[in-house]
Amino acid sequence: MPGNTFGHTFRITTAGESHGPGNVVIIDGCPPGIELTVDDLVVDLDRRKPGQSKIVTQRKESDRPEILSGVFEGKTTGTSIAILVRNEDQKSRDYDDIKDLYRPGHADFTFDARYGFRDYRGGGRSSARETVARVAAGVVAKKILARELGAEVVGYVVQIGDVRADVPEHVTLEQVEKLPDGSPNVTRCPDPEAAAKMVALIEEVRKAQDSIGGVAEVVARGIPAGLGEPVFDKLRADLGKALFSLPAVLGVETGAGFGVATLRGSENNDVFETDAHGRVRTRTNRHGGMLGGISSGMPIVLRAAVKPTSSLSREQDTIDREGRPAKIRTKGRHDPCLLPRFVPMAEAMVAIVLADHWLRFKALGRV
Ligand SMILES: Cc1cc2nc3c(=O)[nH]c(=O)nc-3n(C[C@H](O)[C@H](O)[C@H](O)COP(=O)(O)O)c2cc1C
Repeated sequence: MPGNTFGHTFRITTAGESHGPGNVVIIDGCPPGIELTVDDLVVDLDRRKPGQSKIVTQRKESDRPEILSGVFEGKTTGTSIAILVRNEDQKSRDYDDIKDLYRPGHADFTFDARYGFRDYRGGGRSSARETVARVAAGVVAKKILARELGAEVVGYVVQIGDVRADVPEHVTLEQVEKLPDGSPNVTRCPDPEAAAKMVALIEEVRKAQDSIGGVAEVVARGIPAGLGEPVFDKLRADLGKALFSLPAVLGVETGAGFGVATLRGSENNDVFETDAHGRVRTRTNRHGGMLGGISSGMPIVLRAAVKPTSSLSREQDTIDREGRPAKIRTKGRHDPCLLPRFVPMAEAMVAIVLADHWLRFKALGRV
């Protein structure tokens, strides 16, 4: 199988390249009767969109999706949903000079090693442009989780370079998207002081024709206990794959993550208790909402480390397809820091996995 399909019961298939006519997603398994309009899709597509602020790529895409099937009179029909987002601002000429060169840190060499032939314009299928299709599918997944569970998935930036956020207890979408004065929160960091420092750092690296990495966190609240499988399709494993399948992700943590290395069991164990309604919960959440591959009912907490953008407008050493030394400079427009636009992509992938496992849980017949 060529790996363009993800999920079991809620299943998405994407097609499309960075500089082709458009990107498409086919969503199978969405229950009937979910309200879905183009305007619903646009909310998250706009959060992912290039050109949304001065600290992201200036490629201009309206990213207005077209729903081709699976929706009638504003509601899903239960049949396959196809959504198309056309590419509008493809400047393929930006890539003419580098078509035979391997961009350091990008997928050019490895794609060539696999296929021996590649669409060199902006990374082709390896480009983050492909994620426009997943973000559209993520909207549908979020709607299933909201309607059937009252659950929500919220992502935000917790670190850029050495600037770390002091993250509030329960981050809201409002805090991610807006600063306290109501202006757009262009970094998507919910700590306004850190956000200002992040903007300054991104500006600094951009001026130096460089880029910078960071960490995003995604939290899913309202997910009941019982989702996930005990062996290969552990929720943690599927969420890990979902985040690792996004471009530029070099690390994924859940709960206390790598921090567990220095903890004693007595410090790390989350003690069980019951809440005022008699429901089982844990006093702390170092397990990140998953035990034995199955959700515990506590918030699901994930973090992804995202590398600095590899295309740089400064000169770098490389080689060409014949192995000859060369110099490369990437003329195309790119984000000096991927994190702000990564947030809706990460939310989408987490929501897609959770919607899939929720529908698989329902299929057991216990609800
Ligand atoms: C929001 C977003 C935008 C991206 N834009 C670019 C870009 O303009 N230039 C670039 O070199 N990489 C960009 N990337 C990352 C590359 O797609 C990715 O690094 C490349 O395909 C190699 O894959 P890997 O880093 O996952 O190994 C972007 C990633 C994300 C998440």
